[in-house]
Amino acid sequence: MSREDGDGGAADRKGTRAPGPMAASELVPTYAARELAHGVPRDRLADAGMPPRVAYQVIHDELRLDGFSLLNLATFVSTWMEPEARDLISETLDKNMIDRDEYPQTAELERRCVNILARLWNAPVEGEAVGTSTVGSSEACMLAGMALKWRWRERQRAAGRPTDRPNLVMGANTQICWHKFCRYWDVEPREVTAEGDRFTLAAPEAAALVDENTIGVVVIMGSTMDGRYEPVAEVAEALDRVEREEGLDVPIHVDGASGAFVAPFLQPEIVWDFRLPRVQSINTSGHKYGLVYPGVGWVVFRDRAALPEELVFHVSYLGGDMTDFSINFSRPGHPVIAQYYNFLRLGFEGYRSVQQTCQDVALYLSGEIARLGPFELITRGDDIPVFCWKMSDDYADRANFSLYDLAAKLRERGWLVPAYPMPKNRQDLVVQRVVVKEDFSRELAERLLDDLKAAVAWFESQPGHRATKSGSHFHH
Ligand SMILES: Cc1ncc(COP(=O)(O)O)c(C=O)c1O
Repeated sequence: MSREDGDGGAADRKGTRAPGPMAASELVPTYAARELAHGVPRDRLADAGMPPRVAYQVIHDELRLDGFSLLNLATFVSTWMEPEARDLISETLDKNMIDRDEYPQTAELERRCVNILARLWNAPVEGEAVGTSTVGSSEACMLAGMALKWRWRERQRAAGRPTDRPNLVMGANTQICWHKFCRYWDVEPREVTAEGDRFTLAAPEAAALVDENTIGVVVIMGSTMDGRYEPVAEVAEALDRVEREEGLDVPIHVDGASGAFVAPFLQPEIVWDFRLPRVQSINTSGHKYGLVYPGVGWVVFRDRAALPEELVFHVSYLGGDMTDFSINFSRPGHPVIAQYYNFLRLGFEGYRSVQQTCQDVALYLSGEIARLGPFELITRGDDIPVFCWKMSDDYADRANFSLYDLAAKLRERGWLVPAYPMPKNRQDLVVQRVVVKEDFSRELAERLLDDLKAAVAWFESQPGHRATKSGSHFHH
């Protein structure tokens, strides 16, 4: 509740505004004065409503102050879908995903999507991969983390060992959802910190942190920090060695929020998925390189043994016996429908072509940024189409601006290109990152380059300017 709450007083309770200074808690959309001659309380429900067109206009106009999604190079989340997908979405806005008995065809599309992903990720053909849609990767990671914790507890109990100190091994670069998982489910996070030019998990360091209380190791395909793939096969090999030498069988969960929708199309030679027996579960965000608007995620388990039956609820009061493995209950069905639309519409070749185009733009743009002079690439965008750069050391010594200043300057032109420090142990290093998505064309990349050059020239023409040391960290 805002501090302004209660400002409005008795006069605006009646829906009319008292003469005198405008109350801070009121929205007064003057353009709508023909139909809305009085103020509207902002933080409490007005006594009376307003015509639909006016309500639409008030909200529509206020939202225009948001950033323009086409220029949002910070987000990994899709900002464009085809008009036919939008039609399907608006036709199905009324469907609740949990009502699988009432909407069996929506449930059927979800089932097909899980099967498509399980095959794409090479689940054993003779096995029985299981999975579910979620609101995004965060929920998918919670579910996968819970499965790891439950299975570890069973192993510990069976061996007569204590079950009170579970830990999860991961890189310090993991997305916040893994920190949430550890805090919400009382699991100790064991982080492999960055070292020198290594900003992701490395196999020997991960294996060294494992003990009998380790529920699993999270390996990321497409680090949020710099777009790099972590070495899943190397981690699996290191854990095989731990098993041979110490008898500890530690499973891997692959967080493929971005990369699980990129690697199968662009780097089929990288073995990171269910081909590795140690990989027990994989999550992805349908709303990232799955090319769907928010919010849809997926988690797939290599077989039934990887998903403890205890975690699956059988719901009968909706009619029929429905299985439910989720944190939410109600959620929209349309993102799942939109995912299936993309699978049908694009097929393997369509996805490959979209991801390849994004990668081509990323490689072009990163190459040009490297040629500008002041910047040095940390990554080029050759894993997922995401790359970042730092200020080169000799330029930084004489620069009168920081990457935070550059981000703010680009924002004047509408571009959202975040600057942020690298993870623990390398927080001294500030980088700036671009996420190339389907609607970011080569033409737009050229315009961003022009604006980057103009911004650098502007700073260089302002000898009195001083570099800012911190800024808004709007990365994800
Ligand atoms: C590696 C990784 N894991 C998990 C997430 C969380 O994904 P979501 O936004 O779909 O919940 C992200 C988001 O950027 C991510 O990059």
